[in-house]
Amino acid sequence: MANIGTLDELFVDELRDLYDAEKQLTKALPKMAKAASSEELRAAFEEHLEQTEGQVQRLEQIFEALGQKATGKKCAAMAGLVKEGEELADDAQAAVRDAGLIAAAQKVEHYEIAGYGSARTHAQLLGNDEAVQLLEETLEEEKETDQKLTELAESSVNEEAAGETRQTQRPAARASQSAGSKTRGAATAKAHKSSGTRHA
Ligand SMILES: [Fe+2]
Repeated sequence: MANIGTLDELFVDELRDLYDAEKQLTKALPKMAKAASSEELRAAFEEHLEQTEGQVQRLEQIFEALGQKATGKKCAAMAGLVKEGEELADDAQAAVRDAGLIAAAQKVEHYEIAGYGSARTHAQLLGNDEAVQLLEETLEEEKETDQKLTELAESSVNEEAAGETRQTQRPAARASQSAGSKTRGAATAKAHKSSGTRHA
């Protein structure tokens, strides 16, 4: 059943997919923030939630200019990405949960970057300058978020996960690195504490 026959129709279809994807994210991000142990990661998710609400509004502005009703079309891809993220948050132990949450969030960002990139290109082809500008703004935010997540992954969060994994696997090695393990120990205590409150 082929009911998308023109680039205009394809463009609206893409907007509906993105609209639904963003709406799903406004529900998922608070849960991801809650599941995060690292303050920085939690703050990044909360900041992106605010951005996402603005991104929803940009899409509504585009729909309005096109004389189209702002409605979403179930984005199966985002539903799958969110589901995987939730499963991971449930399955991963506190020590590696943040690292997994970052990975899940980056998959979401890359999906959105692809979606907004294509929609922006199609808006250009259609000569819809206002849409190009609005989609470009969101695209830049998604790229910045992805970059920030990469920085978090490369810094403290994954270092803590790797350190704790090493400690768990090789308890005998702990004594010999006691000098450097102060921060890791604190992180472990924090992770255990927050894991306890989460399940309480
Ligand atoms: Fe977004």
